[in-house]
Amino acid sequence: MRKLFISVLAVLFVLSMVAVTTVYAGPIQAPTKPFVFQNRHGAVTFEHSVHLKAGLKCQQCHHMWKDTSKPPRSCKVCHKEKSTGGVPKLYYMAHRSNHSCKGCHKAMKKAGKKAGPTRCSGCHKKN
Ligand code: HEC
Ligand code: HEC
Ligand code: HEC
Ligand code: HEC
Repeated sequence: MRKLFISVLAVLFVLSMVAVTTVYAGPIQAPTKPFVFQNRHGAVTFEHSVHLKAGLKCQQCHHMWKDTSKPPRSCKVCHKEKSTGGVPKLYYMAHRSNHSCKGCHKAMKKAGKKAGPTRCSGCHKKN
């Protein structure tokens, strides 16, 4: 009787561990597939892998990402063709401040660090 009780407990313990690992899938992962920004100046390909290898943190780009149990929202949800209610437009987001794509590359290059492209054709590929 005692043996049976212990094995039932053991089975329950194993089942509860399985339940915990399936409900908790781990932190949100960055996409492994490149993301392509389509725009009138030529498509720009963005890859998480090169940026994460360079040691950047998620929130350096996903600057509004607070609830990390859900994926971050796409930049274009807020940044539109024209600036709207205090949100800079897409063009500014991509080229202007030190937190933008081009702005960060420029600032890092200036600081003598390994950075991404700063010339138009380094990012924009016409086909
Ligand atoms: C250098 C900037 C940068 C860094 C660092 C970065 N991301 Fe991203 N992330 C982007 C861009 C740009 C996109 C694609 C455009 C978009 O979906 O808004 C994107 C898209 C995503 C998406 C898809 C969103 C969607 O709705 O399609 C997820 C998920 C994501 N990132 C997670 C992460 C995680 C997790 C990290 C940190 C480990 C991270 N990112 C670090 C810039 C960055
Ligand atoms: C939920 C809305 C929202 C999302 C999603 C969002 N932004 Fe922003 N962004 C803002 C707002 C609001 C501002 C202006 C206030 C500020 O600077 O925080 C801003 C400002 C910026 C700036 C200018 C900062 C400066 O120094 O002047 C950059 C660059 C930027 N966002 C890049 C991004 C990128 C890249 C993404 C996607 C990876 C993104 N944003 C996603 C709302 C958003
Ligand atoms: C906060 C800084 C930062 C931001 C923001 C940033 N990058 Fe970069 N990017 C880097 C660094 C650092 C590298 C160089 C990594 C290396 O060569 O080791 C890089 C590399 C690149 C490369 C070259 C990739 C390759 O294969 O060599 C491209 C293209 C690029 N970034 C595009 C973008 C785009 C598009 C955005 C905006 C959506 C962006 N980056 C935002 C820092 C940044
Ligand atoms: C670090 C990468 C990078 C560099 C360098 C860069 N761009 Fe961009 N550019 C982008 C990204 C990302 C977008 C996409 C934003 C979007 O979705 O419209 C963009 C969008 C644009 C757009 C379209 C804006 C819109 O509202 O449709 C124009 C025009 C443009 N870039 C011109 C240029 C010119 C000219 C240069 C050189 C002086 C340049 N870019 C250099 C990343 C870059």
